[in-house]
Amino acid sequence: MDAFNLLKADHRKVEDLFSQLESASGQAKMRVFEQIKMELELHTHIEEKFFYPALKKPKQTHDLTLEAYEEHDVVKKLLQQMSRAKSATEEWEAQAKVLQENVEHHVEEEENELFPDAAAALSEEDIETLGEQMEAEKERKQHTASSKSSSKKKSANKSASKTKSASTAPKRARAGKSGSKSSGSKRTKKSTKKSRR
Ligand SMILES: [Fe+2]
Repeated sequence: MDAFNLLKADHRKVEDLFSQLESASGQAKMRVFEQIKMELELHTHIEEKFFYPALKKPKQTHDLTLEAYEEHDVVKKLLQQMSRAKSATEEWEAQAKVLQENVEHHVEEEENELFPDAAAALSEEDIETLGEQMEAEKERKQHTASSKSSSKKKSANKSASKTKSASTAPKRARAGKSGSKSSGSKRTKKSTKKSRR
């Protein structure tokens, strides 16, 4: 896939996530936000690692590329700020709106100005190679992220199964004759808290 098509596909994906964010509420909203954050971090990373360095040199694309770096910084700061929230407060909603507007502006500028200038400044081969490099980097990052999260899940499952067996123990103890097994309840609370993190 060439660089433009790859980046445009990313843009459409994020647009779709932003419309999901608008209609979601409660914890579902925070989960959509986590997805947006992940997508944007990955997208800005591949652009900054391959695409922008190639566009910084040619005169036609130099200024817009510098502007794009700055816009990325604004987006990253907002993402960091927003990810600290546990729920969608009024301030968080305002930040989400600003984030969306920033991303929309950035996408528009890239697709309508930077990409056409880049198509003029770079060869078709360059654009194809950049696309391949960004695609490979995306896969590498996603693979690392998914193996990290699967090992996290594994340990969460472990503690969840511990929690399950521990939480049934006091019930049995209450229902049965002996109360000696109820010491598990304190541990249950702790491990439940841990597994939610
Ligand atoms: Fe970008």
